[in-house]
Amino acid sequence: MAGQGEIVQRKIVMIGCGVVGQGFLEILVQKKELLSKKFGFEPVLVGVSDMMKGSVMVPEGIDIPAFLEHVSAGKKIDEFSAPGAVAGLDSIATIQQADADIMVEVTYTDIKTGEPATSHMREALKKGMSIATTNKGPITLHFKELCGLAEQNKAILKYEGVVMSGTPIFDLLDYCLAVNDVKEIKGILNGTTNFMLEKMEEENMAYDDALALAQKLGFAEADPTADVEGFDALAKVIILSNVVLGGNIGTDDAERIGISGITIEDVQQAKAENMRYKLIGSTKLVDGKIIASVKPVKLPLSDPLAGVGGAVNALTFSTDLSGDITIQGSGAGKIETGFAIMIDVLNIHREL
Ligand code: HSE
Repeated sequence: MAGQGEIVQRKIVMIGCGVVGQGFLEILVQKKELLSKKFGFEPVLVGVSDMMKGSVMVPEGIDIPAFLEHVSAGKKIDEFSAPGAVAGLDSIATIQQADADIMVEVTYTDIKTGEPATSHMREALKKGMSIATTNKGPITLHFKELCGLAEQNKAILKYEGVVMSGTPIFDLLDYCLAVNDVKEIKGILNGTTNFMLEKMEEENMAYDDALALAQKLGFAEADPTADVEGFDALAKVIILSNVVLGGNIGTDDAERIGISGITIEDVQQAKAENMRYKLIGSTKLVDGKIIASVKPVKLPLSDPLAGVGGAVNALTFSTDLSGDITIQGSGAGKIETGFAIMIDVLNIHREL
């Protein structure tokens, strides 16, 4: 916290300007006074680049409310006018030319290649820029390399939102539960499938109808394979294995079974047995080896994870000193995920 009313400006460049990026900018506007008064933090947005919408760089700082209005009216970012504005740079050129302290990386996740986000991160770290991201791709595939680059260039890499969006887990482990050994992590890491299983159980809804409803409500991806086949949860399990348990595993090193094979009869049969199906992601260390999986599991109703309904995420950390700690909260959403970026940016400000 800055002392005695001291205000520190931090220059931010944002790569990607979709739902999450705009959510973050809305929070900056909404919490401007609090950020300044309580944390001595004044963000200066010096550039934004989006593959579809274009880019703009304004060294003196972008007027964020005016920018949000411009973007939500569906206008191209290149057309945003401001004194000294430079338009039309691609994302790499924007990172190279923006004189920023922090890069916010919120492009789409590609879990197979990690691109284009990994290239953005390498470029930013080489320049000594710290990073706040919610992009699962680079953290799933290149975590160790990116940490090395950050250390080498005295930059900070933050990724609180990659597993549970705005529900804190890495800060929880790093601060509140520090000193504990985490033995095992298991939980519900995909909101869409959790919502679907609940509808199938409570409303006897057929699998296809539950999926269509999840899509209509905006939880499921446009191509829901990542949700129902467990790829989204798998990426999160890989991240937890490598970041929290110190593993070095890839997406082929964990078992993955989605919920597409679960029928309404299976769900109803489990209910009759006082059990409940959940898509559970889990990881633990056994004799120095990571054992990780994503699969549907029948839980007794007494398990805290069995009571988690809706498009919600939850994780239980089994620790040596604090026992089992379960945290539950939203795993997606514009403002929730925007908050994950906000807290990372604020913590970078506090650490710099
Ligand atoms: N489609 C994902 C879910 C969103 O349903 O949880 C975040 O990964």
